[in-house]
Formats: sequence, structure tokens, C-alpha cells
Amino acid sequence: MSETADKTFYLETFGCQMNAHDSEKVVGTLVQQGYRQVPTVEEAGLVLYNTCSIRDKAEQKVFNRLSDYKKYKAQGKTFGVLGCVAQQEGEKIFERAPYVSLVCGSASYNKLPQMLVQLEGGAQRVTGLDDRLTDECFETEFTARTNPHRGYITIIEGCDKFCAYCVVPYTRGKERSRSSASVLGEARQLVDLGYTEIQLLGQNVNSFRDPEGKKTFAELLGTLAEIAGIRRVRFTTSHPRDFGRDIVDVIDAMPVLCNHVHLPVQSGSTRVLDAMQRLYTREEYLDRIGWIKGARRDISITSDLIVGFPGETEREFEETLSLMDVVGYDSVFTFKYSARPNTPALGMEDAIPDAEKARRLAVVNERQKAIGTARNQRHVGQVLEVMVEAKNAARGQWVGRTSQIKVMNFTVPAGVELAAGSYVQVRVTGSFPNSLAGELAS
Ligand code: 5AD
Ligand code: SF4
Repeated sequence: MSETADKTFYLETFGCQMNAHDSEKVVGTLVQQGYRQVPTVEEAGLVLYNTCSIRDKAEQKVFNRLSDYKKYKAQGKTFGVLGCVAQQEGEKIFERAPYVSLVCGSASYNKLPQMLVQLEGGAQRVTGLDDRLTDECFETEFTARTNPHRGYITIIEGCDKFCAYCVVPYTRGKERSRSSASVLGEARQLVDLGYTEIQLLGQNVNSFRDPEGKKTFAELLGTLAEIAGIRRVRFTTSHPRDFGRDIVDVIDAMPVLCNHVHLPVQSGSTRVLDAMQRLYTREEYLDRIGWIKGARRDISITSDLIVGFPGETEREFEETLSLMDVVGYDSVFTFKYSARPNTPALGMEDAIPDAEKARRLAVVNERQKAIGTARNQRHVGQVLEVMVEAKNAARGQWVGRTSQIKVMNFTVPAGVELAAGSYVQVRVTGSFPNSLAGELAS
């Protein structure tokens, strides 16, 4: 790569919201270093691939994609692999894909500027693989935000929970919280840029520990909600073990905090939860659900579920179904267990055959369809505030989200145009398993 050339890059991103937001930070950093983002691989001098390794055969998919890129090497392009597969596979990537020059996990993104200088100097194998050693956060001075209305803010990076199935503690490193002062500063900057919705991100936001000792997570939420100009604050993901009652109290007290909690349960069986090393029992989880349901506000509850964890019996699977009934989730993300490198569950016996996992997945999805439909039915006739996201011209409707994070498809009178990012009142006229239908009320 020559320093005098027009420095261009193409970035492709897979995975969760954390990854999408990491990419916003990477773009911001590259732009600050004099690079220009381009929409195709063909136009780019530097091709970056931000990878996810949470499930399935992620590594294989990455190598397949990299082999598509091989043909461009002759054109002098530089290739980099970022994110969780980069951290997980490390220098092995250079062996299997020798045309790659950069391998960097998310815990090392703060060193990207130096790595870019090395690449520009012609270095062939540049790595950022600090893994669990790092104490640093990737501060976000130069974030290039892609969503114009919802501003993401990382409050904690990494994870120290080591659930038996999960790669994240190995790929994203140990927990590092940002200071509440720096989070509040970023939120104020976002307000100045016109953002009204803030979403706090972290693998486990409930274990946020202000390094300056000023605020608990619930206090941080309360302070954010008081910033003039912020209309909505969301946060994800919560871990049941660390989820405190003070979070429900602050949601109850501050309408700016969205009435939604994503509280992944993974399984309804205490035996399986123990094998998963989730650090709570079914009863302890249901206690937390009791706190949320005891709130004055109607807080929607969503979750993640894994079916077919090694050794999960039919009875244990049925405990998951019964837990779904008891909680009455507004929605759930459901996954078949997949074995991941380095994780304790990898060596566990009694693997569940894939066809059986698929059957269980279909059963939970069917059950949630019924539960979600019943849950959404309660909104029919209510008038809810919706943040407008976009117009669906084909259907002659608009789409937005309620505070409870439900998708609302709604009609407006002929000739009325709405602005994306604005807030409107919508009367709910219909409910579906995963969305609401309505009409503009004001
Ligand atoms: N197999 C299946 N699902 C997984 N998840 C994490 N690791 C695995 C795995 N190995 C799911 C969990 C988590 C969500 C982000 O992904 O449900 O909450
Ligand atoms: Fe993975 Fe468990 Fe950490 Fe969530 S809490 S990121 S599932 S190890």
C-alpha cells in the first residue's frame, strides 16, 4: 500500500449490534486517518471484513469469503480480517489465507491507527490479538454513525461470564467498563447531533462498573434520562444474574427509559442452566421476571433461547416451553445449540442430533408465535408513541417502533408525509406475532 495513493477502504460487517457499532468506530477511525469509504471491493485499496463467530460454522464461512477475495490480491489490494473470528483464529488466518495482511480482534481496535501505518509501510502480517490481556476500551471520538436517529453507545466491552457454550469471553476479552462521565459526554454529543434515541450496548450491561466509582448502571440510566433532548434510552444485553431491582425502579420512575427489558434465559431447566454455567436457577430467573411484571409500567420482556444443549432431555426441553408460558415473552430469539471452539461445552457428551435440535427449534418458534400473538393483542385499541423509521411505499404505510420495541406498521391520511426520526401517536388496530398494525392518531 502506498502512502501517496488515494486511501480507500471497503468494510463488510457480520453479526450482532456490538459488531455493527464496532464497525462504525472502525470507519470513524479510518476516515480520521485519511481513508475514504467506498461501496465496492473493486474500488477499495484496503478490504476489511468484520466477522462474527457466535454460532454455526462461522470460521468456514469466513475462509470461503476470503477465498472470493483472493483474485483481487494481484490488483495490489490489502486484506484485513477483524472481529471475533480474527481473534479466535489468530495467526492461523495467515496460514490459510496468505493474501491477508491484517488480523485484529475488537480488543485491539484502539491500536488500528498504528497498524494502518505498518500496512502502509508494506508490512505483510500485522496483528492485533491482545485478547483477555487488555484493559483498554476503544474510545469513540471518531465514530461514523450509520443510523441517523438511534445512537449506539458502548458502555462495557468484553465478558467475564464464561457461559459454557459461548465464544465471546475468548473473542472480546475481559470486561472493561467505560467511565460514566465519558458515556454521558458521548450522549450529550449525540443530542447535539440531533439524536433523540440512545441505545447502550454491552455483552452484559448489568455488570457495568464505573471505573471512577461515580454511578451504578441504574444511576447511569437515570442520569441519561435527564439529559434534555433525549426521548428514548434502551440498553442491551442484560444478564439475569446481575440484573438488579434498581433497574426496574428507575424504568418505573423515568418515562424516557423504554419499557422493554431483554433478559436472555437460554433454558427453562435449572439442570441445563447449571450445565450452561449461567449462574442462576429457573426460580431466580422467574423472581426477576416478577420484579419486571410488578412495575407500574407495562414493560415488554424479550429473551434468547438455546435448544439442544448437550444432554438436554425431552423433559428439560419441556421446562423451557413451560417457562415461556409462565413469562409470556413479547418475543424471543431462538437458536439451535452449536459447538464453538475453545468453549467448555465443546467436549460435553450427549450431543443432540441436528434433526432433533431442528424439531425443538420449530416447537419453540410455534409456541412463541401463539404467545406473541396473545401478548400483542393487549395493545389493540391503545394509542402508543411511535418513532417513525421509514415509509413502506409498496404498502402505502409507515413503519416505526414503540417504546416496547414493537414494530408498528401504520397508515396515515392521504397526503400526510412524516419525517423519519419524528415521534407520532398511533392507534393500534391489529396485532400479529411479531408486529402491530395501526393508524395515525395525531
Ligand atoms: N449456540 C447457540 N446459540 C448461542 N448463543 C451464543 N452462543 C451460542 C451457541 N454456541 C446465543 C445465546 C446468546 C445469543 C446472542 O446467541 O442465546 O444469548
Ligand atoms: Fe456469552 Fe454468557 Fe457472556 Fe452472554 S453472558 S456474552 S452468553 S459468555
